[in-house]
Amino acid sequence: MTAHAVVRVCFVCLGNICRSPTAEGVFRHLVREAGLEQRFAVESAGTGAYHVGEPPDRRAAATARERGVALDGSARQFRARDFARFDHVLAMDAENRRELLALAPDAAARAKVSLLRAFDPDAPPDADVPDPYYGGDGGFDTVFDICEAACRGLLARLRAETG
Ligand code: 4NP
Repeated sequence: MTAHAVVRVCFVCLGNICRSPTAEGVFRHLVREAGLEQRFAVESAGTGAYHVGEPPDRRAAATARERGVALDGSARQFRARDFARFDHVLAMDAENRRELLALAPDAAARAKVSLLRAFDPDAPPDADVPDPYYGGDGGFDTVFDICEAACRGLLARLRAETG
């Protein structure tokens, strides 16, 4: 039997309380559904430190729960040293990507950074996961849908790449 290396992914937004915990929960759910828990390590983080230590936003958690996905963990800030811990760093929007690229210590680290929605074949080029923090509750449903489509694409790509 071939031993597969664990693929380590980190989803990154600004606060690590809305979008990236949603993407983390959705991706972990899809991985579990596919029976691939042994093959993936999944985390999330924020470029900002405003909400460090807080649980996921209750609106994001409620929306995910309605869709059968549990959000857990507490917010942490993505640091330069984290690049060594992950194979793929998925930015929710262009600003998050800019921040990550500025933090990346070298070209190898920069190469790990992508926009999450780049993995959704139906998303327009350079599409963001919109920030729902100051919007109405409808924003959280949209964020969940967007994360689900992109995470399905991401999982399909990583499965194809890693065999
Ligand atoms: P997130 O949402 O980046 O998806 O976790 C936000 C959370 C908090 C703030 C902005 C966005 N904030 O300005 O505090």
